Amino acid sequence: MNRELITTQDGSKTLLISDLNETYHSKHGALQEAKHVFIDHGLNLVSDYEINILELGFGTGLNVLVTIDEYLRNISNQKINYFGVEKYPIFFSEAAELCYAELFSDAITKDLALQIHELPWEATHELVPQFSLTKLKKDFFDLKNTALPPIDLVYFDCFGARVQPDLWELELLEIVAFKMKSGALLTTYSSKGSVRRTLKDLGFDVEKKPGPPGKREMINAWKK
Ligand SMILES: C[S@@+](CC[C@H](N)C(=O)[O-])C[C@H]1O[C@@H](n2cnc3c(N)ncnc32)[C@H](O)[C@@H]1O
Repeated sequence: MNRELITTQDGSKTLLISDLNETYHSKHGALQEAKHVFIDHGLNLVSDYEINILELGFGTGLNVLVTIDEYLRNISNQKINYFGVEKYPIFFSEAAELCYAELFSDAITKDLALQIHELPWEATHELVPQFSLTKLKKDFFDLKNTALPPIDLVYFDCFGARVQPDLWELELLEIVAFKMKSGALLTTYSSKGSVRRTLKDLGFDVEKKPGPPGKREMINAWKK
């Protein structure tokens, strides 16, 4: 699959899989979307001292960067263990072209923008004190047989159902739900009705939230 670099409407860059016409982030603004869906309607709603985050999929690393940026600026008295799952890692040259360091003012986050792509997979790395990153190179469905601590927050950031419908159906959502603590939050840019219904069937309290720019709604789902 050919990936090409594009610039989104807020000036931040993302990747486009041209054969599928599918982008890694919203064309209306990659950075805005990441902050809206995963920070404002994700991290900022979870108040535990120690937060285990599971991301599907790790991709460009933008979500871990917005998470660490928020952590350093506002919640560094907490502890975050971040697990990013990815089957098809991007190339280091692609990460360099995305220029994500330019999106952040903090020197630590700037340095991490590329460093996170050089870190070995299947190992835990302390990026800053009390913030660790574990990158898992595997298929999402293999999470079923992967040992993880009970998850407090899921960033469900798969490609859309138009191109990967199986990632939005019961089998994977059930695997993910099983990894989550009672009271944990799953946040996603999607507002798809069938996803909301499946999450309800799995015992989640499902809320529709205002979407990021260009999208009317998104989903927050709380595990009961
Ligand atoms: C929407 S993009 C990820 C966006 C990512 N969170 C970011 O900020 O760049 C979806 C990601 O899921 C990965 N992916 C697709 N199918 C997968 C699978 N079956 N198992 C693991 N990763 C997969 C893709 O390679 C891609 O990186």
